[in-house]
Amino acid sequence: MKDNNKHVCPVEEANVLDNFFRKLVQNPKNILKHYVKEGMTVLDIGCGPGFFSVGMAGMVSTSGKVIAVDLQQGMLDKIKNKIEGTEIENIIELHKCEDDRIGISTKVDFVLAFYMVHEVPDKDKFLKEIYSILKPDGTLFIVEPSFHVSKKAFEETVNRADSIGFSQIKKPKIILSRAVVFIKHT
Ligand SMILES: C[S@@+](CC[C@H](N)C(=O)[O-])C[C@H]1O[C@@H](n2cnc3c(N)ncnc32)[C@H](O)[C@@H]1O
Repeated sequence: MKDNNKHVCPVEEANVLDNFFRKLVQNPKNILKHYVKEGMTVLDIGCGPGFFSVGMAGMVSTSGKVIAVDLQQGMLDKIKNKIEGTEIENIIELHKCEDDRIGISTKVDFVLAFYMVHEVPDKDKFLKEIYSILKPDGTLFIVEPSFHVSKKAFEETVNRADSIGFSQIKKPKIILSRAVVFIKHT
């Protein structure tokens, strides 16, 4: 069901999501090391200023690809400025989406939805599109902020994903967060 009242994190608050302190408490490599490997094609949906996109670019390396997707051009511009002229520039592909359509045709091995699902107006549609974008046996990692998303609301998202056909494999512990990892079984 569509909920139009969701707050979308403003570009002006992007610095809160991309700083040295966060690297200490939510280190992308530590959080994602069991799921993101060299050569993979991965999707960072709701990438914001690219804290995880940049982290994953180092993990997939030059043989892989990170598709960084956001509905706000301002967030994508922040990533563009950060990676321009660096060695990861060619690993990260930027894509602007709509709030109800991701709209990429590439099939991916891994999807990260970090602190963004609660901002999505139609979660069923969103999760179904992710299901169609993932390769068979691909992985979806959802992380929500525990200070914004109640246990009940998080479980509703988990149940939605279950009913679409995802299988839960783990509920990792991440500071200030609620997290779940799914596999797409076909
Ligand atoms: C709180 S920020 C998190 C950014 C990033 N994932 C991180 O953890 O640093 C949420 C981001 O999701 C984006 N977003 C919200 N709804 C979206 C949607 N339906 N599709 C794609 N991106 C969305 C917002 O523009 C914002 O950049």
